[in-house]
Amino acid sequence: MEYTRLGSTGVQASPLCLGTWRFGQESGGVVETGREEAHTLLDAFADAGGNFIDTANGYGGGDSERWIGEWLAERDREDFVIASKVYWSQESRFQENLSRKNVRAEIEGSLERLDTDYLDVYYIHRFDDETPVLETMRTLTNLVEEGRVHYLGASTMAAWKLTKALWKAEVDGLERFEITQPMFHAAYREDVSDYLDVCADQGLAVCPYSPLAGGFLTGKYERVGEGVDDVEAPDGSRGALDEMFSEWYVSERGWAVLDAVRAVAEEIDATPAQVALRWLVQQEAFTCVPIVGARTVAQLEDNLGALEIELSDAQYARIDDARTSA
Ligand SMILES: NC(=O)c1ccc[n+]([C@@H]2O[C@H](COP(=O)([O-])OP(=O)(O)OC[C@H]3O[C@@H](n4cnc5c(N)ncnc54)[C@H](OP(=O)(O)O)[C@@H]3O)[C@@H](O)[C@H]2O)c1
Repeated sequence: MEYTRLGSTGVQASPLCLGTWRFGQESGGVVETGREEAHTLLDAFADAGGNFIDTANGYGGGDSERWIGEWLAERDREDFVIASKVYWSQESRFQENLSRKNVRAEIEGSLERLDTDYLDVYYIHRFDDETPVLETMRTLTNLVEEGRVHYLGASTMAAWKLTKALWKAEVDGLERFEITQPMFHAAYREDVSDYLDVCADQGLAVCPYSPLAGGFLTGKYERVGEGVDDVEAPDGSRGALDEMFSEWYVSERGWAVLDAVRAVAEEIDATPAQVALRWLVQQEAFTCVPIVGARTVAQLEDNLGALEIELSDAQYARIDDARTSA
């Protein structure tokens, strides 16, 4: 697997990142990915050459970090790029907060659960409108200076808030966000182009989360009525288990894009999942490393196949057109 340099950093990461949000996550009374399955997925990803793993302090109530930590103990830590996040609390009584107190408490919890001395990437999971951004950036900069964190990242937020944080860091000589994590996929009903323009201009890496719209772009969901969310979901899938599925991932734009993705997939003998992921990997304005959330090894292998295909300019444009005209 050829590695990709993450934006303006020196980090060499696999061109797909493994997401671990559903490790230990209970939906509809079912634990989506248990401990053993999590370790099997991590093994399969690493054996294929993957080295970039995404988690957060709160995934699975801390089990995601714990299970990655147990797995990492059997591997060489230096071979992996481990990213985690802070905003919602596990350790502190302040629930949604990027204050010095909260960030200091949460990094200790994450490092302990992951059983590591440092994180390669530490994202703010959301923007904190209450805490002065300077306090957050100073605290995060201290973590970099202490060697607990190598690079800072920012997840989803308004473009102007990302710009404000970047500007604050620059004028105060602090570490800035180098890696971003917006929700971004071809079928996304919302327009995140302002955010992506900031990333392109500033040379920030973009690691889209939910790159398959929670599985919608794999083509396994069918429209069964006139309503946008008249969706037939396969048994046991996220769409069948998670009541937020339609609200988060299904839209008229999504159905139009899925048609285009399916048509391109058929043309190049690939799967819709591979085409949807490739559309992200081939973004030209910025380094784009999708965070895939496979639940089985077969899904992961399917998704890794995105690295073996290529979309022509015309195929790429057809998906873009479906996106912009819906
Ligand atoms: N920063 C944030 O706020 C934020 C938010 C969300 C996620 N994330 C990160 O992004 C990662 C990925 O998010 P996501 O899980 O929503 O990603 P996704 O790739 O859009 O969806 C993954 C789900 O789609 C289904 N799937 C994946 N590949 C498939 C395939 N080849 N064939 C059939 N079904 C397939 C599986 O669900 P089923 O089998 O259950 O249908 C899987 O759990 C997370 O793990 C997390 O690390 C970050």
